Amino acid sequence: MKIVTNSEQETLDFARKFVLELKGGEVFLLEGNLGAGKSVFVRGVAMGLGVKKNITSPTFVIMKVYDVAKHDKIKKLVHIDAYRVEADDLFQIGLEEYLNDPETVVFIEWGEKVAKDLKKYKFKTIKIEHQDNLREINIQ
Ligand SMILES: Nc1ncnc2c1ncn2[C@@H]1O[C@H](COP(=O)(O)OP(=O)(O)OP(=O)(O)O)[C@@H](O)[C@H]1O
Ligand SMILES: [Mg+2]
Repeated sequence: MKIVTNSEQETLDFARKFVLELKGGEVFLLEGNLGAGKSVFVRGVAMGLGVKKNITSPTFVIMKVYDVAKHDKIKKLVHIDAYRVEADDLFQIGLEEYLNDPETVVFIEWGEKVAKDLKKYKFKTIKIEHQDNLREINIQ
């Protein structure tokens, strides 16, 4: 699936609708440079799932777990920023209990850093390329 957006709002709207594709248990690795829109995308997903708390960047917390209010199967949204950490750090703080858990969806920014350590799990990638306000979002 590939889509082009021209503003933050368009990315939020797309991510909000993307939630309709989710069944629970999905893990997404987000790839894209600084400022590509990875966090914006996850914020849109959070809106679509009815997460009440404000989604902030997990850069300093590494992993954030949000309660999902608006989905019949998904109960938790996990948002990770792997920019400054290794997969082992994530495993140490309990990531594995969430990976492919049917009641959870996981989004990992800078996911390419940990992809090789997640081989035993099922995951998809969301690649975002950007130029000015244009974002090309590729989900595979
Ligand atoms: N079409 C667009 N879609 C998403 N964001 C856009 C778009 N056009 C401009 N922006 C801006 O790009 C920035 C994206 O920031 P965001 O924090 O989501 O990036 P990021 O990929 O998470 O970066 P980092 O690696 O630093 O975490 C925001 O300031 C947003 O307003
Ligand atoms: Mg970010």
